[in-house]
Amino acid sequence: MPVIPGFLERLAFRANLAPVAILDVHGAASLHTVALADELGVFAALHGPRTLSDLAAALACEEDALRCLLDALVAVGYVGRSGDEYWRTRTTERWLTDGGDANLAPFARFWVDVVLPYWRDHAERAVREGDPGESLYDWLGDDEAAWATTQAGFRSSASLLVDPVAEALGDVSGARVLDLGGGHGTYAVELARRGASVTLVDRSPALEPAREAAADADVDGEPGTDSDADSDADSGYDLVLLFNVLHGHSPAEAATLLDRAAAALAPGGRLAILDQFG
Ligand SMILES: C[S@@+](CC[C@H](N)C(=O)[O-])C[C@H]1O[C@@H](n2cnc3c(N)ncnc32)[C@H](O)[C@@H]1O
Repeated sequence: MPVIPGFLERLAFRANLAPVAILDVHGAASLHTVALADELGVFAALHGPRTLSDLAAALACEEDALRCLLDALVAVGYVGRSGDEYWRTRTTERWLTDGGDANLAPFARFWVDVVLPYWRDHAERAVREGDPGESLYDWLGDDEAAWATTQAGFRSSASLLVDPVAEALGDVSGARVLDLGGGHGTYAVELARRGASVTLVDRSPALEPAREAAADADVDGEPGTDSDADSDADSGYDLVLLFNVLHGHSPAEAATLLDRAAAALAPGGRLAILDQFG
């Protein structure tokens, strides 16, 4: 977790007596630390207490350098330490590993490896000219590794909401569902598990993770996938999802997507819009 100021520190920041911007720097450092630890396999390897030398050997890391990383993780509460022994904390168990409630480590890696480089190249132009020049997805191009990191990040954040969102959509058994910009397929797979017949539309580089998710899922109706995002030939859907798609588009593009969604609906069908990031 990013550094949380104590009572006296909060007072000092509020009274403008201390350089509060240092917390922004610590937040950025914390994000990079978590992403690197996940990439190296630190959280998975710390399933129980381990000595530094044992861990360094297991992860093929230089011992003193690994100690720096582990101590940084201790400082932000993700790793515990006693002497030379380290373990992952309950916070990490719950939010940064696969066995917990949600694993947000891939979301941290998506920010470090994809979002921040994209911002570095596009944010200034976006603010000066009101247009970044190219969307994040155009910028990703055909880079399969970057798409995989991106979809893993989206899947990670979707895992926080998929159950309550699926509940909120009500009974979808037998319904025809179109998941526009469905990406990794988490929502499509869950609705298929609940008896819907789901078609997922996305850009083609995004579809491989969705196909894998569909293949891994034990569902009766496997979600179909369709890369033809601009096609409006198919219609008659009972439910169209536009989840976390609109925020990445200009108002004109968003209007086109909404037209596409409306045209796909059967009479009386429902359009569900969700945006965690907008
Ligand atoms: C932030 S992700 C959301 C994924 C998933 N719906 C969710 O809520 O977790 C946005 C997805 O929309 C896709 N996308 C963006 N513009 C699109 C378009 N015009 N047509 C189809 N998919 C699009 C992207 O490739 C990406 O997979």
